[in-house]
Amino acid sequence: MGVKLGILGLGTVGTGTVQLLQDHAFRHPLLQEIEIYRVGVRSLDKPRTVTLPESVLTTDLEAIVTDPKIDIVVEVMGGLEPARSLILKAIQNGKHVVTANKAAISRFGHEIFTAANQAGVYVMLEAAVGGGIPVIQPLKQALSVNRIQSVTGIVNGTTNYILTRMQTEGSNFSDVLADAQRLGYAEADPTADVDGLDAADKIAILASLAFDGRIKLEDVYCEGIRQVSKTDIAYAEKLGFVIKLLAIAKRTTLSSPSLPPISVRVHPTLVPKAHPLASIHGVNNAIFIEGEPIGQVMLYGPGAGAGATASAVSSDILNLVAALKTSTTAPNPLLTCRHQDYCQIVPMAELVTRFYARFLTKDQPGVIGKLGTCFGSHGVSLESIVQTGFQGELAEIVVVTHDVQEGDFRQALTEIHTLTAVDSIPSLLRVL
Ligand code: HSE
Repeated sequence: MGVKLGILGLGTVGTGTVQLLQDHAFRHPLLQEIEIYRVGVRSLDKPRTVTLPESVLTTDLEAIVTDPKIDIVVEVMGGLEPARSLILKAIQNGKHVVTANKAAISRFGHEIFTAANQAGVYVMLEAAVGGGIPVIQPLKQALSVNRIQSVTGIVNGTTNYILTRMQTEGSNFSDVLADAQRLGYAEADPTADVDGLDAADKIAILASLAFDGRIKLEDVYCEGIRQVSKTDIAYAEKLGFVIKLLAIAKRTTLSSPSLPPISVRVHPTLVPKAHPLASIHGVNNAIFIEGEPIGQVMLYGPGAGAGATASAVSSDILNLVAALKTSTTAPNPLLTCRHQDYCQIVPMAELVTRFYARFLTKDQPGVIGKLGTCFGSHGVSLESIVQTGFQGELAEIVVVTHDVQEGDFRQALTEIHTLTAVDSIPSLLRVL
C-alpha cells in the first residue's frame, strides 16, 4: 500500500468517501494505492453502513493528525472547532489536508493557508463549494489562464429547492420551509441556508480563487430568502424573471488586472428567464463564470449528498496521491494557495445593478408621476413601471430600473417614503 489516509469524521461525507475508495474498480487506478489507515469517530459503538477493520476506527482525533505514518488528513467532520485546530495540527505535522469545510475555510483560510505554505503542504477543498461539481480545481487550473470578470452561483441547494417550489406551487416561504424540513430537505435550524450564510462562505472561497486575493467573510454582503414573497415571485414571472438566491463575485473595473475592486454578495435576485441560471431547479447547484477570453462557462450538478461530495473529496485525494508519487520536492504551484493580499471590496452603496421594487400606494392621480420624479431627481432611470393590481384599497406599483448606483437608488427610496401617497415599500430586490 502506498498512501495512508487519516479520515476525521464518518458522517454522510466520510461514509460516502470510504465507500468510493473501497469500491475502486473501473475508477482511476491510482485509487488502489490508497490505504484508509485511521478513521476518527465520535463513538465506536454507532452502527455503520461501511465495514472497516476495528483497528482503523478510533476516537482519538489528535492521534490521527500527529501520526507520522499518515500522509493525508481528510477533514470531513464539519463545524469550526475542533476542525480548525485539527487541520492546523495536521499541517504542522507535515500532512496534506483535504477538507469539505467551507465554514472553516471561509473564516480561517488565511491562517490555514499561511501555515500550509510554511509547512510545504497542500490544502485541498473541492467539496467545500458546489458538492460534486468540480469548480475549485477549474478555477485554480483550467480557467486560471482567463481574466475572470464574474462568478455567479446558485450554491445553496436548500434555498434553491424552496424557491423552486414557491415558484411552481405559488406557495409561501414559511409553508414550503416547513414542508422541506418535514421531508428532510431543510435542516431543523435552517438559518445557515435560508439567511444566505452558507452561500456567503462559498462565494468568499470562489471569489478568493477567481480574483486571486483573500476575502474577509465580514465583507461579504449577505441577504437571505425569508423576505421573498409569492407575490414577488408572481410579478417576476410576469416580467420575464425567476427569483434565485445568487452568490455573486464581480470585478467592477477592467482597468487593473491585479487585485481589482470586486463586489461580493449574496441576495435573492431576479434572473432573466433566458439566463442559464434561471433553469437550475430544486437542490441542484450551478456556477456561471465569465472570463476573458473564454466567455461564459456554466458548471452544473448536485451540490450536496454523500456520493457527490465523496466524488469531490476523492478527486482531491487523487490529486495528492499523484503529487506524492512525483519525485520533485518543490511545491506544485497549481495546487498551492498563491495569494496573501486581501481583495478590495466595493461597498454596496457603490454597487451598480438593476432593481425591482414593489410599492403600495393610495390609488389617486399622479402617484406614478411622483415616483418617477423622485427617481429621476436621483439619477435613477426606469426600465418599466406598472400598476398591475390592488391589495385591498391600495394600488400595487412595480418598478424595474436600469443599472443604477445602489446608493442613489436608496436615496430615491428615502424620499419616496416621505410621499403621503405612498403607504409602504414591501419589497426591494436586485435584478441580474
Ligand atoms: N446546506 C447546503 C445546501 C449543502 O443546502 O446546499 C452543504 O453545502
